Amino acid sequence: MRTKITELFEIEHPIMQGGMHYVAFAELSSAVSNAGGLGIITALTQKTPDDLAREIDKCHKMTDKPFGVNLTFLPTVMAPDYPGYIEAIIKGGVKIVETAGRNPKDYLPALKDAGIKVIHKCTSVRHALKAEQIGCDAVSVDGFECGGHPGEDDIPNFILLPRAAEELTIPFVASGGMADGRSLVAAMALGAEGINMGTRFIATKEAPVHENVKKAIVAASELDTRLIMRSLRNTERVISNAAVERLIEKEKSLGDKIRFEDIIEEVAGVYPRIMREGDMDAGAWSCGMVAGLIHNIPTCKELISGIMEEAGSIIQKRLYGMIS
Ligand SMILES: Cc1cc2nc3c(=O)[nH]c(=O)nc-3n(C[C@H](O)[C@H](O)[C@H](O)COP(=O)(O)O)c2cc1C
Repeated sequence: MRTKITELFEIEHPIMQGGMHYVAFAELSSAVSNAGGLGIITALTQKTPDDLAREIDKCHKMTDKPFGVNLTFLPTVMAPDYPGYIEAIIKGGVKIVETAGRNPKDYLPALKDAGIKVIHKCTSVRHALKAEQIGCDAVSVDGFECGGHPGEDDIPNFILLPRAAEELTIPFVASGGMADGRSLVAAMALGAEGINMGTRFIATKEAPVHENVKKAIVAASELDTRLIMRSLRNTERVISNAAVERLIEKEKSLGDKIRFEDIIEEVAGVYPRIMREGDMDAGAWSCGMVAGLIHNIPTCKELISGIMEEAGSIIQKRLYGMIS
């Protein structure tokens, strides 16, 4: 399957793995890239730019295929050393960057001057248009279903993707709720040139996270995610657990008076305990509604080949058969 995204990133299949805090290390990114997709390392999981440089080196040793780095621009006063991370990306010879969070315009010139292709992940058509306007090469359109931060508009992909197609001239991938060949064909029908997956890639053999995390995703249904931090305008879709239910109780009782400090125990610094140690009630962790479609733990190769085979069969047999 050749699309504008496979051409842009010089990859075999139009399937991307989104940056994921404490999940998207070289082990996962290289496995996705080796399977013909586009693997992404998450910069901010690496404590310093030097650590990121080492992770990039490691990934180069594990694959000779293209891979990228995710740079998430957080809504924080104490900004991480973004120029340092960008230097590590450029010196490491990485040619693709997935930006997310805030508008990446301040950092775009440095990336573009180094010949890096930038795909910006955003949750609304207006932000996607802004990304196009400032010179991003592509966007990742993240619907309300997605794991992580769906924004504050609550527009699901069945509306958001065709709206993006109506407005954008640069190519886009569909992100949020993507799991299999059905998702890929549907995303293409709605105007996307590929898909981006987060939650689905956590439940793979190569994802370097505790088995408890993978089992929790397989066990979860589409009813098992919750939205938190809405009143802080930092909405996040997470899997339900004891910490999340406690956090939601605090949100109910404090209402609009809630401050970040009130929920710090449930959200700050919890990822290593969850992803590495498998302490599933340690805090809130991102997970998409797509968990309801995840029933196994394949290798990345099995997953990606399976998606491409299923997509081909849906197009050639099911869809073509309906009109001929
Ligand atoms: C555990 C987890 C951690 C994530 N961390 C990040 C992150 O640090 N930066 C980012 O841009 N997106 C992050 N995401 C979002 C994913 O890159 C992707 O956009 C999202 O998972 C797509 O929705 P899906 O889970 O339905 O596939 C995270 C998602 C998950 C599930």
